[in-house]
Amino acid sequence: MLQLLLLLLLSSTADSQSQRVSGYKKANACVCQLNSTMWVFPAQKFKYVLEEVHTCEESLNNLQEELTFSSQRLPLIQDQFTNFTARLEPYNYLHSQGLYTELSLRQLGQELSQLQVDIDVVHSQLNNSETQKLSKEADRLHKHVNKMQTIDTLNMKTVKEKLRYLKNNVETCKSIPKDFRVQDKHCVRGLITNISDPITTKVSPHGKSYISGSWGKQAQNESEGQKNSYWVQPLLSSHIWGNTVRLYQTYEDFMASTNHREFTFASSYSHPSTNEGPNAVLYGEALYYHCYRSADICRYDLEANEVKRVTLPGTGVGFNNKFPYCYYDCRLNSDVDVEADETGLWALYATIGNHGNLVISRLVWDSEVKSLNVTQTWETRLFKKATSNAFMVCGVMYATRYVNEYREEVFYAFDTATGKEDNSLAIPLEKVAKAVASLSYNPTNKQIYMYNDGYLLAYQAHFRSEAL
Ligand SMILES: *[C@@H]1O[C@H](CO)[C@@H](O)[C@H](O)[C@H]1NC(C)=O
Ligand SMILES: *[C@@H]1O[C@H](CO)[C@@H](O)[C@H](O)[C@H]1NC(C)=O
Ligand SMILES: *[C@@H]1O[C@H](CO)[C@@H](O)[C@H](O)[C@H]1NC(C)=O
Ligand SMILES: *[C@@H]1O[C@H](CO)[C@@H](O)[C@H](O)[C@H]1NC(C)=O
Ligand SMILES: *[C@@H]1O[C@H](CO)[C@@H](O)[C@H](O)[C@H]1NC(C)=O
Ligand SMILES: *[C@@H]1O[C@H](CO)[C@@H](O)[C@H](O)[C@H]1NC(C)=O
Repeated sequence: MLQLLLLLLLSSTADSQSQRVSGYKKANACVCQLNSTMWVFPAQKFKYVLEEVHTCEESLNNLQEELTFSSQRLPLIQDQFTNFTARLEPYNYLHSQGLYTELSLRQLGQELSQLQVDIDVVHSQLNNSETQKLSKEADRLHKHVNKMQTIDTLNMKTVKEKLRYLKNNVETCKSIPKDFRVQDKHCVRGLITNISDPITTKVSPHGKSYISGSWGKQAQNESEGQKNSYWVQPLLSSHIWGNTVRLYQTYEDFMASTNHREFTFASSYSHPSTNEGPNAVLYGEALYYHCYRSADICRYDLEANEVKRVTLPGTGVGFNNKFPYCYYDCRLNSDVDVEADETGLWALYATIGNHGNLVISRLVWDSEVKSLNVTQTWETRLFKKATSNAFMVCGVMYATRYVNEYREEVFYAFDTATGKEDNSLAIPLEKVAKAVASLSYNPTNKQIYMYNDGYLLAYQAHFRSEAL
């Protein structure tokens, strides 16, 4: 402080009557001879010097404060830096895997710049080995992030261009036109646009622990006797096999879990007529489902109490957990799915011949010769294990994927009338538990039924044509 004061005194008088005083060494001490006239200066100048001294003290205090502040801040900034480095880790990993993260990386880059400003301030004030190290590391990291960003941007651009090119090529011949309408005497409507929040939520009457199965409402319009029946088909053995179906005459009975009738269609859990996997549908007077360890669809006639079957076409039809619904979480033995819509019955499955992609077969019950037949088959390019479930509406297959514990999303549609597909859908379905065992549409009321672990949920589907 003294040193500084002296400097100041000398400099502040430099413009007028400054004097350089040279000292000399004498008896081990520094001696300065002062010309007394040096101290004879106007009072005003003295005041000015005093002010200067005061200002100097203030700025000294400020400097002291800043140094203290910076010292206190240093560990904080070091923590932030460590935290930042840790958060960058996943990006480093993604990068090493060739996956691109342009958007979030840009945000991290901005954060790093902010952090660097802070580091610079502390470094300029403390300038010790710690701040030097921090500053150097920050520079290095910045270069690293910039490099990743550049690569990402390049890659993203290339990928996007490729996608655009592919899309343009595919668009004209493959995607479902926006004004698409199914031409059928029972349904004239476009793609699903919305699915409501659940309008029915109920724990399975067999208990929440039965996490796999299917349920719904009678799916055939003309079925007078069973018009408003609700049914539940739980997989009571290992969440894979079931041999009973529970029937409620009304919605009220179903909701109250009262007045049910139980039908048993196989004498054991390993009988050829046992149901394997969550997939059944009640259509007319029969329950249709996938038969035990086979490539067959079974039809259990509730009135005649007998089972008929048909083998699905295709090379290497997947069953016994070969091609289950698998997006996020595989649902055991969900290989073959039976669905109903306005146009009739369908089987959804995958074959080795179609590389594990979904195959759609139309099922027909020939009541005259009492025979279950497959009349037509379509092969899609959607890998079955990359979906969480699927259902049919007006001859269009919709597939879903897992979004999170409380949401699924319809993301894909395939129109059997034209063979066209659309994988740009994003229609959410709220749910209450993680895994979806079965999902099916009911043409009589346009509702969608989900067996969501042990919960039974129903939704209302809305269509584009309703909005036109
Ligand atoms: C002291 O300073 C005055 C004014 O600068 C000068 O005239 C005088 O000669 C000096 N005296 C000595 C002893 O240096
Ligand atoms: C980094 O800090 C954020 C909040 O500022 C915190 O949520 C996160 O858990 C921290 N990450 C690490 C790896 O410490
Ligand atoms: C820190 O001190 C070194 C040498 O003492 C100097 O070269 C460097 O410029 C200083 N850095 C800052 C940011 O003040
Ligand atoms: C469909 O969803 C959108 C957004 O989620 C909502 O604004 C709209 O009201 C919904 N329409 C119907 C018919 O539910
Ligand atoms: C079902 O029947 C009702 C009237 O009974 C009719 O309005 C409706 O269009 C029918 N639905 C189908 C899919 O046939
Ligand atoms: C179903 O298959 C049986 C036996 O192959 C045949 O007699 C019958 O005509 C077929 N029915 C239909 C509707 O294809």
